[in-house]
Order: sequence, then C-alpha cells, then structure tokens
Amino acid sequence: MKKIGILGSGKGSNFEALAEAAREGWLPVKIALLLSDVPGAGILDLAAKHKVPADYIPPGPFRTKLSPEAEAEYVKRLKDAGVELVALAGFMRLLSQPFLDEFPNAVVNIHPSLLPAFPGLESWKQALDYGVRFTGCTVHLVTPEMDAGPIIGQALAPVLPNDTPDTLHARIQVQEHKLYVECLKLWAEGRLRIEGRRVVVS
Ligand code: GRF
Repeated sequence: MKKIGILGSGKGSNFEALAEAAREGWLPVKIALLLSDVPGAGILDLAAKHKVPADYIPPGPFRTKLSPEAEAEYVKRLKDAGVELVALAGFMRLLSQPFLDEFPNAVVNIHPSLLPAFPGLESWKQALDYGVRFTGCTVHLVTPEMDAGPIIGQALAPVLPNDTPDTLHARIQVQEHKLYVECLKLWAEGRLRIEGRRVVVS
C-alpha cells in the first residue's frame, strides 16, 4: 500500500476524514506519519486517536515558511517513514522548491475556495465579502507560489443569504472532507497524469 504523510497546523478535520477513509479501506493508502509546526495542535491529538505516528517539529524563526534546517528535518522524517505523497491539511506555511523537489508532483493541498478565486487566508470570508453565490474547495498540486498549482479536483458549496463566515466555512468543510478523499484515491490508484498545467484523470 502507498504511504502518505500529512502536514497540518490546526484542528485536523481533513486529516480525520482521510484517516477514517483509510481505516475503512475506501482510501487505499497508509498514513505513515503526521507532522505539525504547532505544539499542541488539535491535529496531533487526532493523530494519537487514530494511532498515526506523529510529531511536532519546530518550524524555526519565520512566520510564513520553515527555516532551511527545519525543512530538511521535515524531509528526513517523511523519507525515513517511506512517504511517497505529502498531503497538506491546514498547514499554514509555504514550502520551498528544494522541499518540493524531494517529492516531485507529489505534494498536494486543500484550499477552501474555488481557485484561482480567493487564494490566501480566510477564503470563505473573502467569498462572503465579495458576494459570490457559489464557492467551494480545491485540491491542487503544491508549487512554490501560494495556492497556484495544477488543480486535481474541485467541489461546490453555495453561499446562502444568512451565512456568517463560520456557517459558510462549515459548509465548505463538509465538501473538503469528501473531495480530499476522492482526489487522494485517484492518486493512489495511479489515475492522475500531469500535462503542463492540467491534471488529467483517467
Ligand atoms: C481547511 O479549510 C483547508 O482548506 C485549509 O485549512 C483548513 C484546515 O482545516 N487549507 P482542518 O484543520 O483540516 O480542519
């Protein structure tokens, strides 16, 4: 079975959806390792609950990226665990080209909007403030530019008249949990092919 690694900084609901799908056998991967840059993050507690090996690795002094030393440690730990694909699940730092070169076309992210609309932080709030009637989520390959890599899959969520940022985010997350499992299943089954910017599903 193919091994994946997860990086996350937050509460970990996407990780939990992946862990449950893997346990049920619907997603044919083994989650070999989870790493977090935030000590005490909820995602670390969920890893313990799901018996996934996990660790906090200090990110270094920068706010939006890992230090080169920290990044090398993340790579070493993932490689030692036999990880073939790295799935970001609410990981709040940009990864450098040297990190991405270690896992060619095999670092993926989930973002809470229909990219290329609303990249960056709190995309559900951006969508609400903009006044769009539909938003959603995107699973994409990670490139050094934020939220800009080739798109693997997208799912739609309507914006309803009385939405608050919290109600809209919750509706998007329901879609995220399904979409991430579906996209990683396609990867695990070898059904994704990259043609320039496009990811072709067979
Ligand atoms: C999700 O909304 C995801 O799209 C974004 O960060 C959030 C992580 O949520 N990248 P969780 O920690 O998986 O619950």
